[in-house]
Amino acid sequence: MNFRLMAAGAASALILAGASIADEASTTLSSLRALGARVQLRIGTAASPLDLSDPTLSQITSEQFSVLTPENEMKWQVVEPQMPGVFNWTGADNLVNFAEAHRERVRGHTLVWHNQLPNWLTQGVNDGSINEAQLRDLLHNHITTEVSRYRGRIWQWDVLNEMLTDSNPSQINPKDFWIAHLGPGVIADAFRWAHAADPEALLCYNDYNIAGEDGSNAKFNAAFAMVQNLVAQKVPIDCVGDQGHLDLQFGFNPILMTQDLRAYASLGLKVAITEADVRTFVETTDNNQTPIVSPTDTTPSHTANPAAADWYNGMLQSCLAVRECISFTVWGFDDSESWVPGAFHGEGDADLYDVNLNPKPQYTALQQTLSLAPGAPHRGGRDHDHDEDD
Ligand code: XIL
Repeated sequence: MNFRLMAAGAASALILAGASIADEASTTLSSLRALGARVQLRIGTAASPLDLSDPTLSQITSEQFSVLTPENEMKWQVVEPQMPGVFNWTGADNLVNFAEAHRERVRGHTLVWHNQLPNWLTQGVNDGSINEAQLRDLLHNHITTEVSRYRGRIWQWDVLNEMLTDSNPSQINPKDFWIAHLGPGVIADAFRWAHAADPEALLCYNDYNIAGEDGSNAKFNAAFAMVQNLVAQKVPIDCVGDQGHLDLQFGFNPILMTQDLRAYASLGLKVAITEADVRTFVETTDNNQTPIVSPTDTTPSHTANPAAADWYNGMLQSCLAVRECISFTVWGFDDSESWVPGAFHGEGDADLYDVNLNPKPQYTALQQTLSLAPGAPHRGGRDHDHDEDD
């Protein structure tokens, strides 16, 4: 028996074991979630049912994030799909249970929105079989039922989503489904109904381009006026969620974003980045501009986008610069599941991980910014022999 070889083998096994334990520890310590925790900033992601069930996806979902937003599972169309009173809470329940099992909080999304409404509701309104009073009751019931079901388990609720026009100047959209049918009073009512059902949950207004992303601040001005008015009326609103869907073809000024987030905070509100992603036009293989999102494509030029990393960073830094910014959430973390190619023709590459679940420079940028967030180590002083004039 060759003891020497055996000993060497045992030693290398130990080293290997040591290395893997160290790697595991460093992965956990350097996760976005752990780094954010050091500065009381929760890092979140939108999660789909697959993110909870697939072993690799669910590992990232739980290791990297401390807040989850159901990507679709709490929307009205999903929870009450076929007819009034017949609910399907499976997806929403699974998400809340998963989050709690992994010590993550939940952002409920979203109670009042013109999109992803059940057909029975929109059809009924269109054909006149649901009148105004009934529609109001249905909305009241919807909010009460959903918020009560998860009472005490939701950290922030997106009560209202995307109610402002994209015009300049912007305003509460008179053509919005809810405004058109129930009038602007529905805004305050929705917050009051949600508050009655769960007095502890933070209640948010959520929208895109409301923190200077459009450069003009037109939509910020409208959002600010609206929430200022709600605060003045003592409506129970607690926070403003800025979605943060950026597109490299437009400008982005992180200083303006910081100022705008600070302005909302000056009203006594919390703020959050709720749906961050940074999309761009991607390489195409055909005249239809079909983006390359095939699971085998990891072309570096396709996935490693320095400008996108920079803009992700800019949004995170804006949030870090405002004490009242309580969470930074990305709208999904990997390119294989992203909503972007389906919603924006020819665009993609919007997420932190590529289609093979490798972290991209967009991920590393956030990680590095979070690791510096507690304050750069002291670099001056007497002991330091480095002179600026050297
Ligand atoms: C998107 C989802 O990501 C898609 O899966 C779905 O088909 C449509 O909705 N703003 C929002 C989110 O507030 O709810 C949207 O989510 C993306 C834009």
